[in-house]
Amino acid sequence: MSIEVFNNTVFYLNTKNTSYVLLIENGLLTCAHWGGHITSTEDFAMPGGPPEWYNKPEPMREECSSFGTMHFKETSLKLRFEDGTRDFRYKIENFTIEEDTLCIQLQDEYYPCRVLQYYKVYHNEDVIEKWRQIYWDGEGNAILERIYSGEFSLPGRGYESLNYQGHWGTEFRAFSEPVDSGKKVYESLHSIAGHGCSPFFVVHRNAHENTGEVYFGAVGYSGNFKIVVEAVSKNYLSILAGVSDTDFEVCLKKGQVFVSPPVYSGCTKKGFTGMTHILTKFAKKNIMPKYWRDKPLPILYNSWYATTFDVHCNEQMALAERAARLGVELFVVDDGWFKGRNNDKAGLGDWTPDEEKFPDGLAPLIERVNELGMTFGIWIEPEMVNPDSDLYRAHPDWVLCYKNRQTITWRNQYMLDMTNPEVMTYLYTCFDALLKDNNIAYVKWDMNRFASEMGSDIQEPVHYKEMWHQNTEGFYKLIAFLRTKHPTVEFEACASGGGRVDYGAMKWFDEYWPSDNTDPLDRLEMQHNYSYVYPIKYMRAWLTDDFGMDHRKVPVRFAMHSAMCGALGIGVNLNEKSDEEIAEIKAYVDDYKKVRDTVQFGDLYRLKKMAQDGFQAVEYVKEHQVVLFAFLDHEMYGASIFSLCLQGLNAEAMYEYEAEIQGKNTLVVKSGSYLMEHGLTLRLQGDYASQMITFCKKE
Ligand code: DGJ
Repeated sequence: MSIEVFNNTVFYLNTKNTSYVLLIENGLLTCAHWGGHITSTEDFAMPGGPPEWYNKPEPMREECSSFGTMHFKETSLKLRFEDGTRDFRYKIENFTIEEDTLCIQLQDEYYPCRVLQYYKVYHNEDVIEKWRQIYWDGEGNAILERIYSGEFSLPGRGYESLNYQGHWGTEFRAFSEPVDSGKKVYESLHSIAGHGCSPFFVVHRNAHENTGEVYFGAVGYSGNFKIVVEAVSKNYLSILAGVSDTDFEVCLKKGQVFVSPPVYSGCTKKGFTGMTHILTKFAKKNIMPKYWRDKPLPILYNSWYATTFDVHCNEQMALAERAARLGVELFVVDDGWFKGRNNDKAGLGDWTPDEEKFPDGLAPLIERVNELGMTFGIWIEPEMVNPDSDLYRAHPDWVLCYKNRQTITWRNQYMLDMTNPEVMTYLYTCFDALLKDNNIAYVKWDMNRFASEMGSDIQEPVHYKEMWHQNTEGFYKLIAFLRTKHPTVEFEACASGGGRVDYGAMKWFDEYWPSDNTDPLDRLEMQHNYSYVYPIKYMRAWLTDDFGMDHRKVPVRFAMHSAMCGALGIGVNLNEKSDEEIAEIKAYVDDYKKVRDTVQFGDLYRLKKMAQDGFQAVEYVKEHQVVLFAFLDHEMYGASIFSLCLQGLNAEAMYEYEAEIQGKNTLVVKSGSYLMEHGLTLRLQGDYASQMITFCKKE
């Protein structure tokens, strides 16, 4: 049973390997246990008692702590009633269980205000989803100033918290830091998840790849978020995750409800790999859009690094012809195709093909791409408008702005006010038409600025603080509308690279563009860190000519192997490539097709990390195939032989693979136990050396 109740005071939320135990203690909803599976339902039975607000030696591990009420930590709820009262004191009114979901209702002792705490148990996937709803049933308004999606807590000390730190081109740098004192706050105020930290928490104790306790939660939200990990006392680590409360306010009118986004949580004693496997399996079954979920993503060609804004029908056809020779399956025209778009100063908002570049519209190019056996994809940036555009000239009042301030431009653009129904109607109509009128199989949805003035022509200034969330809802409404109308179209989320990698976007998109930095070496580190929490299938990785950041020259083999660790794409200028160069890239594309299923759908094992181990290795296991990629950046002190044990194999089974023996590639058969316990010896010689080895499990 995934949910069991004892004495109406103890709630066991059981997954295959874990238990989350809730306890009503002194009238408060608390967490008694979050960890391995507990079999006896009586273990946590305790007598109830009246609420006790004062003088507890240890604060209780609450599930819904409110500001005030003698809480001197970051709390998960903050409300303001019209009489000036600013706390929430509740009675536990009742609870319901429907299938795998427990809902516990907390009713304010005085005000007609209810919080519904939801817990959905995904038994087989070892995940518990938390979210909450808050209702105001009274006259006048109640002002909601903070509501996290979930409150979590852990006993004891010695925890570390892991998240990313980065910016454009430097996404997914992972840092793990002790949280024995004070608070660690990861927050985005960018109106999207952004390039800095990411909307998840990973709290661990002595965890490594395969060992150690890891507690995690990923917030399904694509707007401003906040994660707080706080050492409250010597025996209490508090974790809050959800929508950021900075400049946040919701005015709840009578009968109104606010629903928080979900947070998908879990724990494991199998280290970071255990967490990755739980999240990947869970995301595939429960979050990813269904149409592309079980299909391998096509190998795409994208024009951005080759032609940037200089996109012309004939030149794109020439690129497409060469892309087809490589075995590319999807040809994508990036930025630069629409009216007036010759650079980043104009055009956003006017989503019709530029007449000079595409005199007969997109149809001739799409037809040619289809004739070549590829599908066609296109770049859009729906949420934006350039001041230099017909759309802005016609509707200067459609942007987020403050009346008496000059609106700040970033990349020469403004943000459309997606709380405005007229804006939404324009966006629905224009992108629906684009997808209806053209044979478009894929959309790269970009977003290249963050919100600054969260104000609007149509909203009352008193409600401006509600707009961060409403604007995010506007984004969800638009993508939901387009996906529903065009369910087979593949959507990629991009925001100046990896600014929109989050579990909220995952519900609507089939993949992410993780970074504009395509340097194969930087990417190896990013990919390693990205894969802790986000599925590899969602990680596009391309071969490009100019890697953007580090100006190094890397052999095609290394660069291709690095990109083949994710959902492969090609972004080189094929019009400048010789036949030999095209043939070289094609050979890797062919190799990728043989392993793509395993890379995109297999279990991932991060075996080695360049910065720590001197070389990098990543392994993917699916059914009968195992794929290993290994990389060395620079040979140092003549060290070119590296030993490595594989993981996740069947110990008894035999695996066949090619190994270099006395300078010759030779077929070798070894047992799973040999490969996992004794391991392999790899030769990685010189600078930028790489290997891809495929193992086939024998029947
Ligand atoms: C930013 C994206 O990250 C790039 O990949 C590219 O699509 C450009 N925008 C286009 O303007």
